[in-house]
Amino acid sequence: MSTELYPILGLVVLSLGLGIIGVSSSINLYSHKIAEDPELNSRCLRQRLFLTRVRSMLWILVLLLVGGTLSMYAKEISSENSNLAKTREKLFPVYDKEKIWQAPNVFLAETDPDADLIQYGRDLIARTQDYFGEHGIVRPSSINSLNCQNCHLDAGTKAFGNNYSAVQSIYPKIRGRSGQLETIPKRINDCFERSLNGQPLDTTSHEMKAMVAYMQWLGTGIPKGESPKGKGLVDLPLLDRAADPVLGKAVYDRQCASCHGSDGQGLVIPGSPRSYPPLWGAGSYNQAAGLFRLSRFASYVKANMPFGATYENPQLSDEEAWDVAAYVDSRDRPKHPFLDLDWPDISKKPFDHPFGPYADPFSEEQHKYGPFGPIKDFQKAKTK
Ligand code: HEC
Ligand code: HEC
Repeated sequence: MSTELYPILGLVVLSLGLGIIGVSSSINLYSHKIAEDPELNSRCLRQRLFLTRVRSMLWILVLLLVGGTLSMYAKEISSENSNLAKTREKLFPVYDKEKIWQAPNVFLAETDPDADLIQYGRDLIARTQDYFGEHGIVRPSSINSLNCQNCHLDAGTKAFGNNYSAVQSIYPKIRGRSGQLETIPKRINDCFERSLNGQPLDTTSHEMKAMVAYMQWLGTGIPKGESPKGKGLVDLPLLDRAADPVLGKAVYDRQCASCHGSDGQGLVIPGSPRSYPPLWGAGSYNQAAGLFRLSRFASYVKANMPFGATYENPQLSDEEAWDVAAYVDSRDRPKHPFLDLDWPDISKKPFDHPFGPYADPFSEEQHKYGPFGPIKDFQKAKTK
């Protein structure tokens, strides 16, 4: 029997029980009446004894009914729990290095003890504007016009769509950019301060805990230290020339402007309360963000843009991806707020970090647009 029927069964047992108790008290009353009259009492001794027995039997019946129902209910709950545990076990993802990562089955999130927290975390990532944007209900006007999901597609679950698959398994880790051990909350705040060009969150806040819980859930089944296939962004081969903003503008006008606007400021999505996000200007990511590095931008668009593209079905050639990256990242955007703090060890700067000083002889211009081959070769030779 399903547990939904138990309230009904409970009501039936309750009314039966009440009925019996009613009958039993009338018997009681009747028997007392007899006892009041000594003569009647002596004549009806046997009948009274009989009534008392009937009463006791009725009470036993009530106890049996209630006890039986309760124990059936307890059994049902425990078997439901063990079914749940079995279903969860069956759906638990098996880690396979060779397979492209997929987000765990949502049933695992829905039946997790932290289900509400995980759901809230997902929502914060998908609809960041509703919580932190202009009319945000948690902290209004504290970020630019983007949602986390604009860059971490499908709430951070898309293969090569900048997903969060490895967050649980690889953090905390030492990062060259800060020169520090970075925890998940610190890494999330990095995106708040750079990609969202806003204020960091209190690391003990409910919102931070929710996003961490969501990312930890996404990492279900991935062994510590492993980075699943399909994590992050595709590896894009380098061009043997510098990426070209002029060629990139032609790609942009052809392939991007219809959604992001010819001025890069985004457009209203017809029939939706949301907008296509801006790609440059005040509402966009700042110069300290990952996408301001050409390789990150080119890899992101290669497998994800125009919207609908996937790593299996890209829409841009490698050259188009690099060139459009050069065009977009040559437009105006908020300045780098941490130029003096980032990359304390300059020899760790990535080949496409466009701000000197460097531990190599190449110019800022070449670090920004390439050709990157010579820089990478130099870095490799030095670390040998
Ligand atoms: C403008 C694009 C953009 C937005 C918006 C953005 N991020 Fe990111 N995020 C990135 C890029 C790019 C990376 C680094 C990818 C790389 O280096 O391979 C990254 C990396 C991360 C990582 C580390 C992933 C890893 O595997 O190391 C986390 C965690 C993260 N972002 C969380 C967030 C959260 C939470 C938000 C919203 C509050 C957010 N990001 C908004 C672009 C963005
Ligand atoms: C069909 C509409 C469409 C086209 C065309 C398109 N995009 Fe997008 N783009 C989107 C949408 C929608 C998002 C946000 C995705 C989400 O939130 O799920 C996005 C997000 C982005 C982002 C990350 C968020 C941000 O604003 O920084 C970048 C970068 C981007 N697009 C670049 C491009 C480039 C470059 C092109 C052209 C090669 C392009 N897009 C073409 C719809 C489009």
